[in-house]
Amino acid sequence: VSSPSPADPPSRHLYYAESWKVGPAGASDTRFVNVQGVAKLASPSGPYAVINELVAYRLGAALGVSVPPGMLLHVPAAQMSPPPPPAVAVEGAAWVSLSFQPLLVSLAPLTGTALAKIDPSAAAGVVVFDLLIANTDRHSGNLAVATGPVLPPGQAHVARVEVFDHSHAVVHSGNPSVAEYLTNTRDLFVIDGGAVGGNRQCLLDHIADVGLLRRWTKRARAFVTDGLVDEVCGEASMLGVPAFGAAEASLLAAYLKHRRDHLDDLLVGAKASFPTVPASAWTTSP
Ligand SMILES: Nc1ncnc2c1ncn2[C@@H]1O[C@H](COP(=O)(O)OP(=O)(O)OP(=O)(O)O)[C@@H](O)[C@H]1O
Ligand SMILES: [Mg+2]
Repeated sequence: VSSPSPADPPSRHLYYAESWKVGPAGASDTRFVNVQGVAKLASPSGPYAVINELVAYRLGAALGVSVPPGMLLHVPAAQMSPPPPPAVAVEGAAWVSLSFQPLLVSLAPLTGTALAKIDPSAAAGVVVFDLLIANTDRHSGNLAVATGPVLPPGQAHVARVEVFDHSHAVVHSGNPSVAEYLTNTRDLFVIDGGAVGGNRQCLLDHIADVGLLRRWTKRARAFVTDGLVDEVCGEASMLGVPAFGAAEASLLAAYLKHRRDHLDDLLVGAKASFPTVPASAWTTSP
């Protein structure tokens, strides 16, 4: 696997349909398909889950990290938790990510050691992505390598890295307010589990090459644009999540842009968290 740069597109995964049917007539060969996905809903203990998955996916896709493609899914009142009282017409939005497996079977966790060996560049990309979105939950159960098809079609199926579960990134619940959380953590490394708790990012011990990390911070500056960040935060504010309105969306956009612009500083400031990077490697300027 070659190193990423702003010019190198990420690998493109092909996804799966469960069934195929004749589609509406048209000039192209159109079919009805059923695709499988994993949906996540907000809950009293995870009120920001959908916001977090939405923002993480859009930023991760722009960065080039292989987060399974996803979309907002309409949730009828009967599926909501807790269910709204009868006769109250409440609808919601969930986040659904396309299944990266042809069948929904349980996955073996992917250890940091294994990923760093299979694809050191992807491992560095996940660290930079988690740092950008302040992810507090990157353990080996939230990464996988699954064999599957990629572009160009027709080549042998390859080991694809899958990066998922961003419910505990972006806006952390359990804080007095969104504004307070964002203000307090803007300049903190966060992903080592130190500042706000959570899991120590499982790849930190397996990153040996600062150069790879910096290729990804450069990609973040090139592809995670102000326009993208503003747009997705604005969309998040329309999900009807209490305590996340226009003011919080604008604070979140400023927070994400700030982290994007200071990724290299955040990395150097946390160099003690990278035990396998030689100290001398940090002294070269990005
Ligand atoms: N896109 C996907 N394709 C295939 N399997 C998936 C996908 N997303 C999630 N899964 C499977 O579902 C499991 C649960 O999903 P996920 O890790 O996102 O949430 P969680 O760990 O249950 O919840 P929490 O948000 O509280 O951490 C994963 O461990 C994985 O096995
Ligand atoms: Mg998980």
